[in-house]
Amino acid sequence: MKHTILIIGACGQIGTELTFNLRQKYGSDKVIASDIREGSEDLMHSGPFEILDATDYDALEEVVAYYEVGEVYLMAAMLSATAEKFPERAWNLNMNSLFNVLNLGKEKKVERIFWPSSIAVFGPNTPKDQTPQHTMMEPSTVYGISKLSGERWCEYYFKKFGVDVRSVRYPGLISWKTMPGGGTTDYAVEIYHEAVAGNTFNCFLKGDTKLPMMYMEDAIRATLELMEADAEKIRIRSSYNLAAMSFTPKEIAQSIQQRFPDFKVVYEPDYRQAIADSWPNSIDDSLARKDWGWTPEFDLEKTTGEMLAHLS
Ligand SMILES: NC(=O)c1ccc[n+]([C@@H]2O[C@H](COP(=O)([O-])OP(=O)(O)OC[C@H]3O[C@@H](n4cnc5c(N)ncnc54)[C@H](O)[C@@H]3O)[C@@H](O)[C@H]2O)c1
Repeated sequence: MKHTILIIGACGQIGTELTFNLRQKYGSDKVIASDIREGSEDLMHSGPFEILDATDYDALEEVVAYYEVGEVYLMAAMLSATAEKFPERAWNLNMNSLFNVLNLGKEKKVERIFWPSSIAVFGPNTPKDQTPQHTMMEPSTVYGISKLSGERWCEYYFKKFGVDVRSVRYPGLISWKTMPGGGTTDYAVEIYHEAVAGNTFNCFLKGDTKLPMMYMEDAIRATLELMEADAEKIRIRSSYNLAAMSFTPKEIAQSIQQRFPDFKVVYEPDYRQAIADSWPNSIDDSLARKDWGWTPEFDLEKTTGEMLAHLS
């Protein structure tokens, strides 16, 4: 590989695992991890690391030139639950970081960009079951508005300036290496930690709130498969629907109780219930399957097995 890969927001839930995966695949020196803060010891010592603010275009340009970066994965963002508390900061971070990276593409300073969208682009008027790729959107959260706007800008930069930007709408992601960063689906990670610690889990969503979810290994594989696909196969340049499973807090609790029969959950919905209620129950990802061959491997049972095995 001639160029290197830059990951922005590498210390977060997805960035950490993405960095390890890309380093394994292309070699440690070829993958530059960066974040506005330091991350885990493992991550910091596994290859080059830079403190980098995604909203600072000059700093980004400097790192891109210094390391001869060809591909950028932009993982820095403020997530759904935190963004409701700091709307302006969320908008500034989520939009300005994207513009900076898209402009690097427009200026031909990088060749390929990955930027994640989310199921948060959908809103209360969206069909809830098997939500199609093209449908009524109208997101009602700050985060969702920023992601939908981001999708429109990605498609615009592709059509207008030929920027090779690729994106998926991640569902809620479940992983054990790094804790989630302030989203509405964080409960589905926290629940496993509490179960293994032998604690009762206070769930911030109602027991019957069904949301689309995915195990991190599937999410990373989807990301790499999309980035490796031939450009002509990628017909959606806003962001692809992506799915693996859907479940409720009650169902995840039951899957844990099969291994930990004494595990208890108390349901105490807070402000995040309204966010969850505005999102789909399940996603139709047939275009991702058709265009670049997406197939998930982890269902709820397999995810619970992996999470409990790694955390125990
Ligand atoms: N985790 C999920 O379930 C999920 C679902 C859908 C979409 N996404 C999207 O995937 C991306 C990554 O999500 P995540 O869960 O890893 O988030 P996270 O909050 O765990 O990590 C984000 C990282 O960005 C860093 N960051 C914040 N401000 C920055 C700045 N100005 N410059 C550089 N770095 C900065 C943070 O320090 C953090 O390490 C985001 O765009 C998010 O919206 C995540």
